[in-house]
Amino acid sequence: MPTEKDDRSPVALELRDVSADQRMFSPSVARNSAPILAALKRVLPTHGAVLEIGCGTGEHAVCFAGGMPNLTWQPSDPDADARTSTSSWIKFAGLTNVLAPLDIDVCSGRWGVEQTGRFDAIVSINMIHIAPWAASLGLFAGAGRLLRTGGLLVLYGPFMRDGAHNAPSNAAFDAALKEKNPSWGLRDIADLEQVGGATGLKLRETIDMPTNNMLLVFSTRSA
Ligand SMILES: C[S@@+](CC[C@H](N)C(=O)[O-])C[C@H]1O[C@@H](n2cnc3c(N)ncnc32)[C@H](O)[C@@H]1O
Repeated sequence: MPTEKDDRSPVALELRDVSADQRMFSPSVARNSAPILAALKRVLPTHGAVLEIGCGTGEHAVCFAGGMPNLTWQPSDPDADARTSTSSWIKFAGLTNVLAPLDIDVCSGRWGVEQTGRFDAIVSINMIHIAPWAASLGLFAGAGRLLRTGGLLVLYGPFMRDGAHNAPSNAAFDAALKEKNPSWGLRDIADLEQVGGATGLKLRETIDMPTNNMLLVFSTRSA
């Protein structure tokens, strides 16, 4: 299985520590937060509402909300421990622009936020390869339903391109994921573009990130 040196281990496997107030600490988040924040600052609007899918420990949520104070950050995760940690991180950080985490499983047809108005962006980090393909389909379907015109779906993680891995370490990681669960594995950008096409989302930009990860920016049609 992936080791701690990877940037992509399932949250439950890589956690080192839980503080007395239930904050969980992820070594990979400590490494990747700064480069992801820098990329998000460039691609996200300065104002608006962002929904984070699969927020894990909640460290990203407070880092990004702190770094982009004019955004309202809505974290979510179907895992109860992740939501507890995220709530504790929000309290610890004392930020007013992060909302309490929601229980959203992208595979469900409704996410429970349909009534709150459309989001300017949906961000999901290191989620779709550690979940069945149905999660990718559900994520894009939800983004198609819930993003405003011109809104962004931003994905971070390791990806394949036209059936090929971009590094031997990603090939090994893919094999390890599939060994753990055959329905997991790195997703191909071409497959994601196809799903995006069916849900009204077009790939606008791919950004190379440290340790052979990428940030993919999809957007709905502009007005
Ligand atoms: C590897 S962790 C990444 C967590 C965090 N984004 C990070 O980068 O540290 C994957 C997260 O996706 C969540 N997840 C898995 N399946 C999901 C689904 N169907 N819908 C939404 N989130 C899901 C898990 O609960 C977990 O917190």
